[in-house]
Amino acid sequence: MQTENSTLIVYNSQYGSTKQYAEWLAEQRECDCLPAKEVKLSLLRPYVNLIWMGNVRENRVEGLDRLQKVYSKLKDQRVAVLAVGAAPDGSEVIIPGGLSEVPFFYARGRWDPTAFKGMDQMLIKMMRLMLSKKSDEVPDWQKELLESEEVFDFMDAAYLDPVLDFMAGRA
Ligand SMILES: Cc1cc2nc3c(=O)[nH]c(=O)nc-3n(C[C@H](O)[C@H](O)[C@H](O)COP(=O)(O)O)c2cc1C
Repeated sequence: MQTENSTLIVYNSQYGSTKQYAEWLAEQRECDCLPAKEVKLSLLRPYVNLIWMGNVRENRVEGLDRLQKVYSKLKDQRVAVLAVGAAPDGSEVIIPGGLSEVPFFYARGRWDPTAFKGMDQMLIKMMRLMLSKKSDEVPDWQKELLESEEVFDFMDAAYLDPVLDFMAGRA
C-alpha cells in the first residue's frame, strides 16, 4: 500500500527464520512483504522504506544481488539491510560493492541441522571436515554449532528494534 511512510520488506529465506523476522516486523508496523526473487523495480518505487532481509550463507547475505542490481536506480527510497545469521553478530558479513553505505542491521536466526538440504548438507560436511583438520580456522561460534546435531534457536524480536527506529526516521 502506498502511504506517506509506507514500507516494503523484501526477504530471502532458506529455512524460515528470515521470513519469521519479516512477519514479526509486519505485525508491528504496517508493511508489505515480497520475496526477493519476485522483485521488479516498478514494485519498489511506490515505497518510502525498503527493508531488505536475507539469510547469511558463507558470510554473504542471500538476495542482496537483487538489491545491487536496482540500488542505483532507487532515488526516493530509504533502504536498509537486515542480515539473519547464526553468528552472534554481523561483523563477518561481507556487503557487496555499491552497498557499503546502506544502513546494516543484524539479527540472529535459527540453526537447524535436521532441516539442511542439498548443497547446504554438503557445505556443512565440508565445514565439519575443516573443523577436524584445521580447527584454528573455524570461528568459535561455528565450532559449537558444527559439533552438535541440536537445533539452536537464537530468534529474538528485540533484534528488530533498531530497524523500527530506522523506519521511524530515528536512525
Ligand atoms: C550452508 C550454510 C552456511 C551458513 N553460513 C553462515 C555464515 O557464514 N554466517 C552466519 O552467521 N550464519 C550462517 N549460516 C546460518 C544461517 O544463516 C542461519 O541458519 C539463518 O537463520 C538461516 O536463515 P533462514 O532460516 O531464513 O534461511 C549458514 C547456514 C548454512 C546452512
